Amino acid sequence: MQYSYLCFTFILLTISFKAPFTRSENFSCNSNDLRSLTSFSRSIDYGLDWNTSDSNCCTWIGVTCDNSTVSSKRVVRLELGSKRLNGIISESLAGLDQLRILNFSQNFLHGYLPARLLHLQNLEIIDSSNNDLVGPLPGGSNLSLIRYVDISRNNFNGSVDAALCESSSYIHTLNLGNNYFTGEVPANFGRCSSLQQLFLNDNQLSGNLPKSLWQLRNLRILHLQHNLVSGPLNDEIGKLSNLVELDISSNKFSGILPDVFERLKLENFFASSNNFSGHLPMSLVNSPYIVILNLNNNTLKGPINLNCSAMVHLTSVDLGSNNFHGPLPDVISSCQRLTNLNLARNNLGGEVPFAFKNLQALRSLSLSNNSLVNISSALAILQHCRNLTSLFLSFNFHGEQMPRNVNFQFRNLRALAIPYCELTGSIPTWLSGSKMLQLLDLSWNRLYGTIPFWFHEFKYLFYMDLSNNSFTGEVPESLTELQGLINMKISSEGLSLGFPLFSFVADGAKLKYKGIWGFRPTLDLSYNKLTGPLWPGEIPLSLEKLSFLSKFSIAYNQLHGDIPTGGQFLTFPPSSFEGNKGLREQQLTRFQPQQAPHDVQLADEEMTIIGLQFGLGVMTGFLFTVTLCFASGWVELFDEGERLRCGVSPYLSDSSFSSMEILRRRHTHTYHHNKQVVDNVIVSCTPKAQEDNTKCLNNGGS
Ligand SMILES: *[C@@H]1O[C@H](CO)[C@@H](O)[C@H](O)[C@H]1NC(C)=O
Ligand SMILES: *[C@@H]1O[C@H](CO)[C@@H](O)[C@H](O)[C@H]1NC(C)=O
Ligand SMILES: *[C@@H]1O[C@H](CO)[C@@H](O)[C@H](O)[C@H]1NC(C)=O
Ligand SMILES: *[C@@H]1O[C@H](CO)[C@@H](O)[C@H](O)[C@H]1NC(C)=O
Ligand SMILES: *[C@@H]1O[C@H](CO)[C@@H](O)[C@H](O)[C@H]1NC(C)=O
Ligand SMILES: *[C@@H]1O[C@H](CO)[C@@H](O)[C@H](O)[C@H]1NC(C)=O
Ligand SMILES: *[C@@H]1O[C@H](CO)[C@@H](O)[C@H](O)[C@H]1NC(C)=O
Ligand SMILES: *[C@@H]1O[C@H](CO)[C@@H](O)[C@H](O)[C@H]1NC(C)=O
Ligand SMILES: *[C@@H]1O[C@H](CO)[C@@H](O)[C@H](O)[C@H]1NC(C)=O
Ligand SMILES: *[C@@H]1O[C@H](CO)[C@@H](O)[C@H](O)[C@H]1NC(C)=O
Ligand SMILES: *[C@@H]1O[C@H](CO)[C@@H](O)[C@H](O)[C@H]1NC(C)=O
Ligand SMILES: *[C@@H]1O[C@H](CO)[C@@H](O)[C@H](O)[C@H]1NC(C)=O
Repeated sequence: MQYSYLCFTFILLTISFKAPFTRSENFSCNSNDLRSLTSFSRSIDYGLDWNTSDSNCCTWIGVTCDNSTVSSKRVVRLELGSKRLNGIISESLAGLDQLRILNFSQNFLHGYLPARLLHLQNLEIIDSSNNDLVGPLPGGSNLSLIRYVDISRNNFNGSVDAALCESSSYIHTLNLGNNYFTGEVPANFGRCSSLQQLFLNDNQLSGNLPKSLWQLRNLRILHLQHNLVSGPLNDEIGKLSNLVELDISSNKFSGILPDVFERLKLENFFASSNNFSGHLPMSLVNSPYIVILNLNNNTLKGPINLNCSAMVHLTSVDLGSNNFHGPLPDVISSCQRLTNLNLARNNLGGEVPFAFKNLQALRSLSLSNNSLVNISSALAILQHCRNLTSLFLSFNFHGEQMPRNVNFQFRNLRALAIPYCELTGSIPTWLSGSKMLQLLDLSWNRLYGTIPFWFHEFKYLFYMDLSNNSFTGEVPESLTELQGLINMKISSEGLSLGFPLFSFVADGAKLKYKGIWGFRPTLDLSYNKLTGPLWPGEIPLSLEKLSFLSKFSIAYNQLHGDIPTGGQFLTFPPSSFEGNKGLREQQLTRFQPQQAPHDVQLADEEMTIIGLQFGLGVMTGFLFTVTLCFASGWVELFDEGERLRCGVSPYLSDSSFSSMEILRRRHTHTYHHNKQVVDNVIVSCTPKAQEDNTKCLNNGGS
């Protein structure tokens, strides 16, 4: 009895001790998988913190094994996105024959994508986007279970090929965007019948689109923008009854737009910067589905006959830079949801229709460069659009009088631009009610009188251009109290413009902006008739705090006295002050490197800013950089095939340095664009840029 009790206890103990033991022993990965991964880890120079002496690879970071109970578990997922991996992708990974998910996205992997990986029979998802992979696409893939392929934002070249999707009847997403693919879109894409999303954008694809593309009946999103595709847009696109988004902008399409939109459920249609001609098709201007319509920069003509009774979902319309003519269409005013309207650079004339006051949802409006008349009535009507935040009316109202003694109310206005109109009169008092103003451009008019004292009440204003007018009197000292130029936080609440904006600079160059945040903090009072001293006496303390003003100019006035030396005044070039006979430069040396603020973490030793050693006066360096980058207004960086839309932050102050995000110097490589500016430039991703999935690294990485 006692013996059997003991025996029973022994067995119990054995079981209870053995059970976890065997489980842990069983819980180890398949030896082939272990070999594959170990060999892969050797081809990664850094970024992978795997403990390869632990033979249970199922516990390694990013590795997932299946739930099978067999003693050797199989690796089914390898997820190593955003790990800053640097190295090549070893072919040994092809040994992971149970692999279902492979994710290497957002790393610094270079070299080729091994062809054998494209024969993994169980692979369902492959995401190697945003790396530095090169070469042509490996041919002959056989991925019968693949559902999702994303190899965008690499340096792949050669021709595109539908082999990746042809072999699978499950594939719904194929992303080959942002590479260097050339040649035509091949006809065999027509066989990827399960495709719902196809991204071929930002390559160098040319020729006409194959008809077979219009057989992809499940297609919902097609991106072809930024290629060289030509020819007309085929009527057969009407067969894509599930298409909701089509982006073919910045290609070489021509001919008329097909009148097949009644058959499409298209919501977002982007076809800007092509050579489409003719009128807007009836089915398009009556589409109940369209939400965003962008046909900017084509050669479309005729009246703008949008039927808002039918287009009930329309929120954004960009028909700028075309040849539309006639009066401004008052039918637009019944588009109740319209928030963005750009009709700039057409041949529209007459007055702003009275009915425009019904555009209660309207936030951004540009009517620049048409032949509009009667600015008084235009403003009287538009003030009723209570949500209006951006109003651009440049190159209109030629020689009219700025309405002054009226009580317009533009309470929500953040950006107002009425330059190049040769307007006479003075700065209207009603403007003082626009307390939210961040950007004001009234340059190139014939405005006179003084700059009102109440300007300092615009606590968000950080861009003010009153140049090329006839303003008299002194430069109000209160301008040095503009909170938007002192407190970075205030002006960084920039708003999106709803459509890209161009401004014109003296040499005929164009600046392109997508949001107010793209503008350089500016005070431009040049070419006026201002008199008196430039801020008399001591440098106002507030002036020292104007710490991130990028452009300051009072050139060509009649000012006298000493040029201030404090704060940022060190960094403005002499051209900011020239043309004032009485202005004296005090003893100072401009552009002298300053001491780096002590909270700055210096990045790589290698880091240089366009030739300047980084350690050399960080403050000056940054300003210099910012100025250079803003010479193109909005910097679109092409970094190894990956399109970085990083706005260079104008918001620099001591406290912003430590959090400054820096695009780290990577290998020596060829940039396709902007090389001279991009190389080692310091950029900070704006919130928009982060949405765009760009890789911006903190100083040197950690
Ligand atoms: C451990 O593996 C052995 C065979 O090697 C098997 O008999 C046993 O059931 C496995 N145990 C567990 C907990 O999976
Ligand atoms: C790596 O794994 C081995 C074996 O399991 C273990 O002894 C060692 O402590 C681990 N090292 C680290 C740094 O975790
Ligand atoms: C393992 O099983 C759990 C619970 O059933 C499940 O949530 C998990 O997704 C499975 N893992 C794999 C890799 O199949
Ligand atoms: C791959 O990993 C990244 C993060 O590292 C993630 O954002 C992305 O969604 C993953 N891809 C897929 C297809 O799940
Ligand atoms: C693809 O793989 C499957 C399964 O291994 C095989 O039956 C088929 O013949 C292969 N197809 C090609 C084109 O290699
Ligand atoms: C692809 O790029 C490599 C390296 O830049 C180049 O040598 C090769 O000629 C390119 N191939 C094609 C088809 O453009
Ligand atoms: C307008 O389109 C033409 C090509 O049709 C292109 O060259 C040009 O850069 C575009 N302009 C803008 C401002 O996008
Ligand atoms: C645009 O199309 C017209 C015909 O509609 C043609 O005459 C013109 O040359 C084309 N322009 C470009 C830049 O291709
Ligand atoms: C505008 O749309 C409405 C509603 O779909 C329709 O009844 C009307 O005929 C259309 N007007 C024109 C001019 O097409
Ligand atoms: C204004 O539009 C006309 C065409 O309508 C164009 O030729 C001219 O360059 C435009 N000017 C500006 C400053 O945009
Ligand atoms: C005006 O803007 C406010 C705040 O963004 C929003 O709640 C409101 O719906 C807008 N009005 C219209 C008519 O869209
Ligand atoms: C401008 O419009 C207003 C109101 O609509 C009108 O009274 C005035 O006569 C117009 N001015 C000109 C110059 O047409």
